[in-house]
Amino acid sequence: MVHRDVRNPMLFEIAWEVANKVGGIYTVIRSKAPVTVHEFGERYTLIGPLFYKTAAAEVEPEEVTNPFMKDILEEMSRQGIRWLYGRWLIEGAPQVLLLDTGSISSRLDDWKADIWKFVAREKSKAVIAHFHEWLAGVGIPLLRKRHVDLTTIFTTHATLLGRYLCAGSVDFYNNIQNFVVDEEAGKRGIYHRYCIERAAAHCSDVFTTVSQITAYEAEHLLQRKPGGFTLLYDIHGVLPNGLNAVKFSAMHEFQNLHARNKEKIHNFVRGHFYGHFDFDLDNTLYFFTAGRYEFRNKGVDMFIESLARLNSRLKACNSPMTVVAFIIMPAATQSFAVEALKGQAVTKQLKETVKDITEKIGQRIFEKAARYTGGGDIVSAVMEQNELLTNEDRVLLKRRVIALKRGGWPPIVTHNMVDDSSDPILNAIRNVRLLNGPDDRVKVIFHPEFMSSNNPLIGLDYEDFVRGCHLGVFPSYYEPWGYTPAECTVMGVPSITTNLSGFGGFMEEILETSSDYGIYVVDRRMKSADESINQLADHMLQFCQKSRRQRINQRNRTERLSDLLDWKIMGMEYVRARKLALHRAYPDSFVGSEIESHRKVKIPKPLSAPGSPRIKGSGISDEEITEGMHNLGFRIPGQTDDEDDEVNKENFFLYPFPLEIR
Ligand code: UDP
Ligand code: G6P
Ligand code: GLC
Repeated sequence: MVHRDVRNPMLFEIAWEVANKVGGIYTVIRSKAPVTVHEFGERYTLIGPLFYKTAAAEVEPEEVTNPFMKDILEEMSRQGIRWLYGRWLIEGAPQVLLLDTGSISSRLDDWKADIWKFVAREKSKAVIAHFHEWLAGVGIPLLRKRHVDLTTIFTTHATLLGRYLCAGSVDFYNNIQNFVVDEEAGKRGIYHRYCIERAAAHCSDVFTTVSQITAYEAEHLLQRKPGGFTLLYDIHGVLPNGLNAVKFSAMHEFQNLHARNKEKIHNFVRGHFYGHFDFDLDNTLYFFTAGRYEFRNKGVDMFIESLARLNSRLKACNSPMTVVAFIIMPAATQSFAVEALKGQAVTKQLKETVKDITEKIGQRIFEKAARYTGGGDIVSAVMEQNELLTNEDRVLLKRRVIALKRGGWPPIVTHNMVDDSSDPILNAIRNVRLLNGPDDRVKVIFHPEFMSSNNPLIGLDYEDFVRGCHLGVFPSYYEPWGYTPAECTVMGVPSITTNLSGFGGFMEEILETSSDYGIYVVDRRMKSADESINQLADHMLQFCQKSRRQRINQRNRTERLSDLLDWKIMGMEYVRARKLALHRAYPDSFVGSEIESHRKVKIPKPLSAPGSPRIKGSGISDEEITEGMHNLGFRIPGQTDDEDDEVNKENFFLYPFPLEIR
């Protein structure tokens, strides 16, 4: 028996979304990289699929330095397997190995094990292989079958069957105990994939997931409860997702960013609503939802219905506010809609014409003033009212204004859809008649493409778009975690989520009154659909009733939750999962250790990056942070909108876990 060093293990993390953006798992792996590199350094390697189109932008090729790894990769090359080894071009610059699965297809049975021949050569260190999601997890039963000497962790970010069942019209959470899982998977044509997922869950040394709600789901659908224990160690197996919360050195920088990006959204809105631009942008709020197009799972059905109710309520109370609600979900499209492009073009032309005319007027005034030689009233001499606008200018201006006239109302979608008449989002919007009419206080814009600064309509990257908005709305029915509201939080943008989403459940658990912090959680678990829709509409209405000052205060409080969601804290559960994996695979190496429960794990030494300016700025010392961390079950007290933020900084401890600093 080889004796492997369990104190300095090697870590491989394997996922389909390594250097390959699909959805939230990419965000997990990418944003976690800095803390994992900090802990493991060169002992950490990510493994993912090789896509030639995107790889060049994601990975900088590098010589393989580890002699064992070099041998294996050379052997793989000899067998015709193509791979790319290098540094992933993200913060932390982790080592990454991308494998061309196409070049392996003829020997699918073997390849997953090939890389693991590594452990037969590198015998000094323990090796942890951490797989995410069933696509990568297929390697786990193979490793188990071959008795490869390493320890495995499987993290599932959803269950296949759960996602399929919820997307249909099943009352999922009330029937979760009763599904005949094999049969249900078979009926949906996912039986084989389901079997891989279940095998990965059962064959891994440690099985984990991203939230309590998905742990509950996995227990029933995959029939293994996440977490586990040895005689010396135990964990609950929920590895919540963190973020790499960017801090701005200036205290209110995120507020300035909000104002700047909102201005860009204003520009788009002026164009989109041309001819019907009769609302006041100073009294306009931008709401949005975004994500993969899963109509029911992401709660778009509920969002649209609640917007209709909000529209009626705003009308009924004669509110001065207008809400522009964006739905950002990629769908099949042919092109941008001519009407949408035209709106931007005609307002741009108007803007340019007005700019030209005002410049010319300025020039004329200047010329006249410079030539003034005395006599008469000075102001009328240099600014003859009739001469300010030339006839040519008048004609041009008229032409531009006439171009703003349009027949129909502003479109509800920015693109030509491949399937316009049967698109669920469009049909739901049409059903509730939110058609951007002049009386509507709620306007809707469906943008069936992810945001990008190259986009000719809005021209903002997703992050900047979110910053410019006022409220993110994510009323998901099926959402193992849900990065979108978490991302809003670290950018200081309030959001609405549900108690069926991992993030919503997590926030409800640790915040006494989450709404004060700009995290509204709709109850979709115990309430009927109609009640949940009303609750969502109520939250949105209350938000519309806030003053600007209250919104600014609330954004400050939301942003303060960033520390809580940072990987420096959230990553602790990963540390624990790895520790349990080592305990499981190499129990003899821990003989004589004290019994540990997961509550006693230590945070690795601080990252070299400077500490949070906010904590420093608020005068909280390291000792106080440590004390805060020890506060088992600490709950963050509630606040009201009108309280001054400066006052509340003092009693703001953010750490939900009882951790120690080494
Ligand atoms: N996202 C994006 N561009 C957009 C909208 C969303 O890049 O226009 C990203 C978003 O930042 C988030 C991810 O897509 O990180 C969605 O992750 P989430 O966990 O919310 O859902 P999933 O798609 O994994 O179910
Ligand atoms: C930020 C800016 C303020 C601006 C405010 C608008 O806080 O720093 O200058 O007034 O945003 O907030 P609102 O919620 O109306 O977009
Ligand atoms: C999955 C889930 C999403 C989660 C993400 C990362 O794609 O749908 O809710 O945030 O994984 O864990």
